[in-house]
Amino acid sequence: MEKTLAIIKPNAIANAEEIEKMIIKDGFTIVQRRRVLLSKEQAMEFYAEHRDKPFFSDLINFMTSGPVLAMVLSKDRAVRAWRRLLGPTSVAAAIKKHPDSIRARFGSSDTENAAHGSDSAESAEREIRFFFPDVTLYPILSGM
Ligand code: CMP
Repeated sequence: MEKTLAIIKPNAIANAEEIEKMIIKDGFTIVQRRRVLLSKEQAMEFYAEHRDKPFFSDLINFMTSGPVLAMVLSKDRAVRAWRRLLGPTSVAAAIKKHPDSIRARFGSSDTENAAHGSDSAESAEREIRFFFPDVTLYPILSGM
């Protein structure tokens, strides 16, 4: 089973229960979860690839404005499946094209877009390590 990192962002933390129901209904297993308040340094490290983007400082201020809920999700092709359930990064596009998606339902702007998902299996590995450095993620069931 593939794993991916999901983050419920500060503007959607009040809807975390509803979002977790959507995650389970979509067939994911929640392998780990951790509620954390990121420091500016941690948020800047996590989003380092965006450091030259015009929205970077807004993104860092937003992601450190309150607690986030980080989760490791497991499912066949989890990276792609979670991004599909999330909807497009742009909330306006999500509302237009995927009104049932998490970002359409709980996002409030392109920055405050409710939740994050890793963009590849490689990013997922790095991002999971970032939030869960002390955890060994054993497969729940394995044919080996
Ligand atoms: P996320 O999937 O967490 O990855 C990078 C984040 O940067 C993204 O979600 C948004 O919160 C933010 N972001 C991406 N593109 C834009 C944009 N065009 N304007 C404002 N914020 C953005």
